[in-house]
Amino acid sequence: MKATLVGMGSVGRALVTLLAQRQRSGGHRPGTPEIRAVVDSRGARLARAGQPLDLEALVAAKAQGVPVHRAEAAGGLGVEAGGPEWSQRLIAESGTELLIEAGPTDLKRPATAMGHLRAAMASGMHVVCVNKAPLATAMPALLELAAYNRVGLRFSGCVGAGTPVLAMGEQLARGDRVRGISAVVNGTTNYILTQMRDAGQSFGEALAGAQQLGYAEADPSGDVDGWDTAMKMVILAAAVMGVKTTVGRSQVEGISKVTREAMAEAAARGKTIKLVGRAGEDGVSVGPAEVDRHGPLDVAGSINAVVFRCDTLGEVTLSGRGAGGPETATAILRDAEDLAKAAGADRGGR
Ligand SMILES: NC(=O)c1ccc[n+]([C@@H]2O[C@H](COP(=O)([O-])OP(=O)(O)OC[C@H]3O[C@@H](n4cnc5c(N)ncnc54)[C@H](OP(=O)(O)O)[C@@H]3O)[C@@H](O)[C@H]2O)c1
Repeated sequence: MKATLVGMGSVGRALVTLLAQRQRSGGHRPGTPEIRAVVDSRGARLARAGQPLDLEALVAAKAQGVPVHRAEAAGGLGVEAGGPEWSQRLIAESGTELLIEAGPTDLKRPATAMGHLRAAMASGMHVVCVNKAPLATAMPALLELAAYNRVGLRFSGCVGAGTPVLAMGEQLARGDRVRGISAVVNGTTNYILTQMRDAGQSFGEALAGAQQLGYAEADPSGDVDGWDTAMKMVILAAAVMGVKTTVGRSQVEGISKVTREAMAEAAARGKTIKLVGRAGEDGVSVGPAEVDRHGPLDVAGSINAVVFRCDTLGEVTLSGRGAGGPETATAILRDAEDLAKAAGADRGGR
């Protein structure tokens, strides 16, 4: 499928690198997207008819801080950002069949990414989205829009990066009923809480350490206040349990009030404190909670753990790496292959 990629950050660059490696090794697989347009915050680069973009040159340019519209070595045509909704217009007129949205997750300003998704779907393009903000703020509307325009909308990289959390939940929900989900899905808070437990640090000390090491952003509120976890739980609840909710309707508490003393008391009882997201048939909640030490939710660092509570199967747990550009890029490829397969089946007269 011819594709437009929005975002050339750690995920976009990892995706383009994987695709370039596949091109070079001749390892083309059916459904592998062919990137014909790339968009970053300052402009876009469009392939000329019959000529592919040089993906390695694009990555090399971005690594040197060159915006895509100035990356002449990649071939194609550079277009500088300009005018309101320029990126939406570019997507709608791209002539591609698939939008890969890997722009920044900005919960306070989801409108840009939302505009990208709407423009794509209204133009009949399928969408693979790893940007959590539009999904977590307007999942029901986006699912309706995809159905109305008869296009596919996939977002498996939003939860668990490459670990197929959504796919496993959806599988479980086919033969059984998933009643609830509990999960540890945020690496930054996991690191901070582990430091508080193992090194006896206060929340402030552990946060400062995480920022120094680059594990936490300069503005860490999206992680430590629980919003990243809430977004992921909203997406999980919708995809696995059919629960139509948004982050705005969720109960969200972060970890800033967790104390060393509470951590030590929990440890004395064989427990540890984690930032736990919960999804049930009545919605989503997020907050610090005691979990069993060495139990399924006692994961470290950027490892995510998700426990699905099913009617018949009981508890089923999946854990694996929950962050990283290359990891997330594999989810994009998986989703794109699924969409291509589904589109092929439709054309086959299903
Ligand atoms: N990294 C992970 O582990 C991970 C895991 C799962 C999901 N995700 C999600 O994947 C997305 C990308 O993550 P990332 O780590 O690659 O982010 P990132 O490094 O911050 O990169 C964001 C990219 O989006 C571009 N951008 C910013 N504003 C834009 C706009 N208005 N129009 C078009 N492009 C715009 C940026 O352009 P410039 O290059 O010009 O700045 C940059 O290339 C995020 O939504 C994130 O939440 C990431």
